[in-house]
Amino acid sequence: MLVLGIESSCDETSAAVVGDGREILSNIVLSQAGLHAPYGGVVPEIASRAHTEAIYTLCENALKEAGIAAWQLGAVAAAYAPGLIGALLVGLNFGKALAYRQKLPFVAVNHIKGHVAAAYPEYKNLEPPFLAFVASGGHTSIMECAEYTGFKLLGSTRDDAAGEAFDKTARAMGLGYPGGAAIEKYAALGDAHSVKIPLAAVRGSELDFSFSGVKTHIINHINALNQKNGGLTEKDRRDIAASFTENIVLSVVSRIKRALEITGHSALVCAGGVLANGDIRKALEKLCGDLNVDLYIPGKQYCGDNAAMIASQGYYEFKAGSAAALSQNAFASVDLD
Ligand code: KG4
Ligand code: ZN
Repeated sequence: MLVLGIESSCDETSAAVVGDGREILSNIVLSQAGLHAPYGGVVPEIASRAHTEAIYTLCENALKEAGIAAWQLGAVAAAYAPGLIGALLVGLNFGKALAYRQKLPFVAVNHIKGHVAAAYPEYKNLEPPFLAFVASGGHTSIMECAEYTGFKLLGSTRDDAAGEAFDKTARAMGLGYPGGAAIEKYAALGDAHSVKIPLAAVRGSELDFSFSGVKTHIINHINALNQKNGGLTEKDRRDIAASFTENIVLSVVSRIKRALEITGHSALVCAGGVLANGDIRKALEKLCGDLNVDLYIPGKQYCGDNAAMIASQGYYEFKAGSAAALSQNAFASVDLD
């Protein structure tokens, strides 16, 4: 069954056609990063407008690239939550209208579940149950996935998301938005032990994350350097980036290790924009090698927001009987389980 997936939860507009949840026929991603960069972060009104301008052509092109017409689809799936409400509404409403016009079932997809489904096209034999970790600009979640559609949240961030911490640290160093990739580049040449950053822990919940203290610590460190030296040198930036990354890696690895111990899962799926980071990928490969756990991380282009992941999850939601009514609304946040 061919599913058209639509993603518009933040600052990427994307449309994709995926067969049986596993075969990507097309996946077009239009990043708005350039529109938001002057403001140092995503501006919701600009995001909604840019989605509106792009959505029709993107869906048309996704069908064209897949070599099919809309009537050949089996369903339309769109992300409905969590995300920026105005942005989500653009993709959701377009998807509902198309499904109505073509007399197709419409499937509403949780964006975080979609990130996990990004692994299915690449790993054809991957099936639940497994442990999953999603880290992006808006979310940091450890989940137990007993079925394709049944998720249980085990841990999440109490404040900033991991990607948000990357972006805010990059901004404080003058590296622009979004900052994850820039931090990775600088970290490669820095000394990870040069800036001592305390490891954050959430008392009483060993699988929850907290990143706002890390960010504050770095901003204070930068302010001190600014006062002392009148600015940051390239070496300062490299050392801060490396020390920050090391801190995030330790936080992530220790919690995933504990979650694997608690749940006993022998498979781990990781996704979300932050998983494009080579240092985090390497650390997880090492952890899983040591624990004899099978690790599944999609290729970097499928870690960030894309519609193929929405189409994949949409297929499994449809198979589980969760076609949505056309009255389906969008939500900025939603419970996973
Ligand atoms: O999944 P995603 O594309 O969008 C959301 O759902 O938020 O993730 C975007 C986040 C941004 O915060 C970005 O800085 C981060 O992923 N990111 C990275 C890297 N590439 C993107 N973080 C660390 N290292 C990277 N190489
Ligand atoms: Zn995302």
